[in-house]
Amino acid sequence: MKKITTAAMAIGAVAVLALAGCSSSTRGSTTGSGSTPTGGSTGTAAASQFPTFPAGSTIGVSLPQKTSENWVLAEGLFNTQLTAAGFKPMVNFANNGVSDQQNQIQAMITAGAKVIVVGAIDGSQLGSQLQAAKQAGITIIAYDRLLTNTPDVDMYVAYDNYKVGQLQGQALLDGLKAKKTDGPPWNIELIAGSPDDANSKPFFDGAMSVLQPKIDDGTLKIPSGQKTQQQVATQGWLAKNAQNRMDAILAANYASGTKLDGILSPNDTLARAALTSVKNAGLPNPVITGQDSELESIPLIADGTQYSTINKDTGKFVTQVVDIIKQIQQGQTIQFNDTKSYNNGVKVVPAFLLPPMLVTQANVCTAYDPATSPSASKAALATDYCKSKG
Ligand code: BGC
Repeated sequence: MKKITTAAMAIGAVAVLALAGCSSSTRGSTTGSGSTPTGGSTGTAAASQFPTFPAGSTIGVSLPQKTSENWVLAEGLFNTQLTAAGFKPMVNFANNGVSDQQNQIQAMITAGAKVIVVGAIDGSQLGSQLQAAKQAGITIIAYDRLLTNTPDVDMYVAYDNYKVGQLQGQALLDGLKAKKTDGPPWNIELIAGSPDDANSKPFFDGAMSVLQPKIDDGTLKIPSGQKTQQQVATQGWLAKNAQNRMDAILAANYASGTKLDGILSPNDTLARAALTSVKNAGLPNPVITGQDSELESIPLIADGTQYSTINKDTGKFVTQVVDIIKQIQQGQTIQFNDTKSYNNGVKVVPAFLLPPMLVTQANVCTAYDPATSPSASKAALATDYCKSKG
């Protein structure tokens, strides 16, 4: 894998600073308690804030279930990049749920890990393990998903989740304007992610910040009447749950000629599930959003079946986390670019946010950076597909 140069990272960081400065609402805890107003701002942790440790130490990475391709990619990248940086990686999936993840974090503490990176199944259920980790002098990094209702998390590294939602909401509107010229009004249905994932709320809130005004003024209609995050949630991010819900909605509301113009889907896995449901019902292809740029969805974006996805390059993401771990190990100062937005219900967690990118048919051929793994394979797939279609 080609390494990102320091200069490139610096340019990226400036772009991220600019982006974070534009954020405008609290992205954190799903509890609703203790939220502070937001707007990202830059900040630097005191150099002594995180304990240093010897090169070659064990680093724990606790990942959730394999609910989407990004987590599987992260496993390989953490192993490769941590090893290349001289650390001993201990990377686990919590395939059997929350108690599995709790046990794994405990095992990482026992193994003497100096940093534990957590992509939580349910970020509110790890309090005692994180407390034990802190007591052992371990630095805790929340990866992708915020760890909530605990003081024992040192930082959050993620793509800007609220921005992801805004891009999805805007893409749905833009797609409807471009493809469904017999409207407005347009009929849409909403899908949200798993309620135990702290990201589901900023994804949904970001999208609704764009869609709600258009629902209010009658441009968009929701024939099922299911509008709240709770009503439209997909437990466990499971495709079968989204498909079953969509099957029921289509049977109840679209069986006698009502047109379905669009679907807000929070990720690619659920978008493909919803498209299967629509196809089985014999309805025309709706405008549908997604996220993750999964290999199976890139051809669907290229041929227009799925209107949009989001590129959150897992290679750049893992590199960012590994760079931070190296800085902690060497006692360097950690630069954050948002020290206001992520209140986890107990405290504001300093964050380093990366900028997500919208991908549609218009930019899919060039959207993926061939210099970063696994975007190399996405870039190859996209360019091959684009070439074959001329
Ligand atoms: C991630 C998404 C992913 C979803 C399901 C979220 O926390 O941010 O990228 O699609 O989990 O795995």
